[in-house]
Amino acid sequence: MEQLIQQVEEEFQHRFGDGYKLIRSPGRVNLIGEHTDYNDGFVLPAAVDKSIVLAMNANNSDSCHFYAMDKEESFEAEISKNIQKSDQRWPNYLLGIVDQLQKHGYEVGGFDCVFGGNVPIGAGMSSSAALEGGVLFGLAELNDWDIPPVKMAHIAQKAENEFVGVQCGIMDQFASLNGKEGYALKLDCRSLDYEYFPFNRNDIQIVLCDTQVRRELASSEYNVRREQCEQGVEILQQWNSKIESLRDVELSMLFQHENDMDPTIFKRCKYVVEENKRVIQACSDLHQGAMDSFGQRMYQSHAGLRHEYEVSCEELDVLVNIARNLKGIFGARMMGGGFGGCTINLVQEDYVDSFTNQIKEKYQQQMDKEIKVYRTNVSSGTHLISGQEVASS
Ligand code: GLA
Repeated sequence: MEQLIQQVEEEFQHRFGDGYKLIRSPGRVNLIGEHTDYNDGFVLPAAVDKSIVLAMNANNSDSCHFYAMDKEESFEAEISKNIQKSDQRWPNYLLGIVDQLQKHGYEVGGFDCVFGGNVPIGAGMSSSAALEGGVLFGLAELNDWDIPPVKMAHIAQKAENEFVGVQCGIMDQFASLNGKEGYALKLDCRSLDYEYFPFNRNDIQIVLCDTQVRRELASSEYNVRREQCEQGVEILQQWNSKIESLRDVELSMLFQHENDMDPTIFKRCKYVVEENKRVIQACSDLHQGAMDSFGQRMYQSHAGLRHEYEVSCEELDVLVNIARNLKGIFGARMMGGGFGGCTINLVQEDYVDSFTNQIKEKYQQQMDKEIKVYRTNVSSGTHLISGQEVASS
């Protein structure tokens, strides 16, 4: 991290001079609660120690200048009343934030921004939310705006919905902005009430296995899943007008109306209703330290995502199947939107090395391809980097 911070600082100084603010904005993992956020349900994510670092300063002009270190690309735009989307994807994460701030009545002046990071892109670890939250946090700092945490998450989510065109829920932005070192965050995506659950066990490590599969299909299929859930709700509303989302649906009710809906819609709804329950139960497992039980729920979550929600892929399924037979594993599942990216594995600390070696080897044998493995620690949400952090990281 220290090296990354230094590189971002040097790049900023070289391009724009001194006097910047430094922000660290993390990626996230999700322990359980997948595709529940846009159904008003529950999720259990945590911010992690893979992050994006941004250096930002106001430039007293009417333009913003961005430099993406990983891509070695720069971008410039006028901050006029109507910000236009870019044909390139990455500037839209930043422009979307400026656009949303303006829509919320904030007067955004010109600014310079350099950023770089180590959150793997497209791996389901929310590199985009980290970038959105980082720019938003930086602009709030530069302008002394006191934006409450829930509003910050809303603004960042809207930026992604409107400028990037993915109809994502609020989980990623919320977790990245509001995570806390040593804690997972249980978020009620309807009320946006949240609760921190200690997850600082030094006997368990979160290990991510990255298939390195990235599919364009992911965002279009994501939007299709959202629509299918909405269709399910519309059908059920005919019998109970109080139902606003799948959060309000009991499994018994769903089964009662199984024949009133297309089998695909039924499967999608069933998965979501069950996954919501699993999050609540998993939180109580966590509370009681019942990690075996927690792990079993992760496998159930994966099975639902694979067979009912149909957002998994062969690579993810193979990884979960290999993992479940290795020593020291509590549970494994695909993580994030799906169709590629990572699996999340909870592994006993003493077995992390053997787990890593074996899963790499067995996957290579079976699929004739390589995976990347990341060990992650639960870390704090988006924040200003202090001099102390630079020295101690
Ligand atoms: C993506 C979205 C989130 C959430 C997950 C699936 O990460 O950005 O809002 O819906 O997929 O749980």
